[in-house]
Amino acid sequence: MLDQSHSRYRQTYADWKADPAAFWGAAAKDIDWVVPPAAVFDPAHGVYGRWFTGGVCNTCYNAVDRHVSAGRGGQAALIYDSPVTGTKRTLTYADLLAEVRVLGAVLRDLGVEKGDRVVIYMPMVPEAVVAMLACARIGAVHSVVFGGFAAKELAARIDDARPKAVLAASCGLEPGRIVAYKPLLDLAISMAEHKPDACLVLQRPELAADLVDGRDHDWAERRAAGAAKGYGVDCALVGATDPLYVLYTSGTTGKPKGVMRDTGGHLVALRWSMENLYGIKPGEVFWCASDIGWVVGHSYIVYAPLLMGCTSVMYEGKPVGTPDAGAFWRVIEEHKVVALFTAPTALRAIKKEDPEGTLLAGRDLSSFRTLFLAGERADPDTIHWAEDRLKVPVVDHWWQTETGWAIAANPVGLGALPIKPGSPTVPMPGYDVQVVDEAGKPVPAGTMGSIVIKLPLPPACLPTLWQQDQRFREAYLDTFPGYYNTSDAGFIDADGYIFVMGRTDDIINVAGHRLSTGGMEEVLASHPDVAECAVIGVKDALKGEVPCGFVVLKAGERRAPDVIEKELVALVRERIGPVAAFKLAFTVNRLPKTRSGKILRGTMKKIADAESWTAPATIDDPVALEEIAAVLKARGLGG
Ligand code: COA
Ligand code: AMP
Repeated sequence: MLDQSHSRYRQTYADWKADPAAFWGAAAKDIDWVVPPAAVFDPAHGVYGRWFTGGVCNTCYNAVDRHVSAGRGGQAALIYDSPVTGTKRTLTYADLLAEVRVLGAVLRDLGVEKGDRVVIYMPMVPEAVVAMLACARIGAVHSVVFGGFAAKELAARIDDARPKAVLAASCGLEPGRIVAYKPLLDLAISMAEHKPDACLVLQRPELAADLVDGRDHDWAERRAAGAAKGYGVDCALVGATDPLYVLYTSGTTGKPKGVMRDTGGHLVALRWSMENLYGIKPGEVFWCASDIGWVVGHSYIVYAPLLMGCTSVMYEGKPVGTPDAGAFWRVIEEHKVVALFTAPTALRAIKKEDPEGTLLAGRDLSSFRTLFLAGERADPDTIHWAEDRLKVPVVDHWWQTETGWAIAANPVGLGALPIKPGSPTVPMPGYDVQVVDEAGKPVPAGTMGSIVIKLPLPPACLPTLWQQDQRFREAYLDTFPGYYNTSDAGFIDADGYIFVMGRTDDIINVAGHRLSTGGMEEVLASHPDVAECAVIGVKDALKGEVPCGFVVLKAGERRAPDVIEKELVALVRERIGPVAAFKLAFTVNRLPKTRSGKILRGTMKKIADAESWTAPATIDDPVALEEIAAVLKARGLGG
């Protein structure tokens, strides 16, 4: 057994398990409530119970107003650092308050009321954070859509969320290219059945967008007019169980799942995590180098650091190429960052460009205490590389869009436990994590199985999918009754350390981005020349995994396969977006299948990953697998 005596983790976890209501009730005291909750947890409410029922509060108040009232108005709330535009800007808590008051009023003017949805389609600019907080302020429900998604994906989210308004920027900036957001938004609205009443468009100097008469409004003009008239809204009274936001994530089909986050539980769990998991104090500088389009960005660029009264760094750039692989070390030094939270893929990108860490030379990283990693499995090589060069603990932690905060982590604030590379360490209070076999029976320590969480899920986790209780039950609760199915597979060792090894469904993780291979198959299958197809995730040294599609063309197809393959690559980019990173499409004569017709994706993946493989006994024709190996080999893949 490892020595864990110096950490308060074991005692804290035991305290939670002994009395969850007392534990979360105490944590809720760090939040300002207008009306304290009548119950910490009400099992009779919602699909599996709801947290802090009867409570009334406001997320924006807790993130902004209360810090200004407490004398933090002059402290930096947000530091915007944008190597792609060559600009930096700091917003104090007082500035942020002024901005959210005005934008809240502008939203009201555009007809947005409490409970209405607002889609935010914006890059990493401070106005995007102001937009999220302004929605929270008036009780509107935001739904942020990542800029790397195509118009069709945006349209699907507009149709599901049915927003009153869309807040967008004219463009985003990727290294070497300007991504024109507004034409994508216009196309998405034309594709969607639901039409928002208004769009508020932030014109960026790099590219101005055309505005549609009667529907589109210029952000800066509306803001200036509002400020001149002294506009400003106070915080709306929001129920603890009312939604704060809906964030769409890949499901097992092309139709994304709308993960709903409620107000009270989210406030309580995120505030608890900043102190006890991340070990951060008010006034310190926290940097999460993700994007506000992902859950990690929602929780740790925007909400948690602000709830804690910290300074949050908002970085519009990449780990490499903006301008070089030393960019992260520059930001840490310049803004005196105490903790960085990023994805392992970002470190792999840095390691590839600067394997010896020469760009660290001369940097003063004395403020820097901890590196947190999440989004995909942190491979031990990357962890060791970072530890050796940065000389700080490298903490892997595991979570999902659905949970909103870490399921398993090494709780630095409670006293870090010994690190086991390859493991995100131990379950956080609130999560009773178990590993079960296909029948739902717990398996012994060290045995692989499905990772499940005993209900109820802790505060901040999704109470349901947006207006789809039944889909929520089917997707997460029905497989193992009484448990939430994470769809991750792994094991728990004899020390209680969790190891997350991969997904049990069709989700793949590409550069820390979660994508559905099923969704990509739907796109490939829609090509007129494709008879059938299969998409798998294959190992990639930089991105962890990349998608790889195999297609069988319709009989009689006379066009050259390489032309069709190029069309397929372009089609996925057009329908799902560049973020899918779909670049590998291979024509094959047939797909390997079992006698009952099931495509052998698992074995195909082993072949592509150059792992040892055997043809399953149920295979229809073993030669089909050899054909796949030959096609991959011809393209330099599969060993
Ligand atoms: N808007 C528009 N396009 C975007 C985009 C955005 N916000 N983000 C990414 N893209 C595009 C990229 O430009 C790229 O396009 P390309 O095919 O024309 O080159 C494509 O989507 C794939 O992007 P990505 O997978 O990010 O690859 P990359 O080669 O551009 O960068 C890394 C590789 C490792 C540097 C980058 O993926 C990275 O920083 N990852 C960290 C991920 C992360 O923080 N995830 C959050 C979870 S914690
Ligand atoms: P997302 O919802 O985009 O955050 O992706 C969640 C999925 O990413 C999880 O279900 C895991 O498969 C994977 N994941 C995230 N963090 C980790 C981690 N630290 N270790 C292993 N897998 C991870």
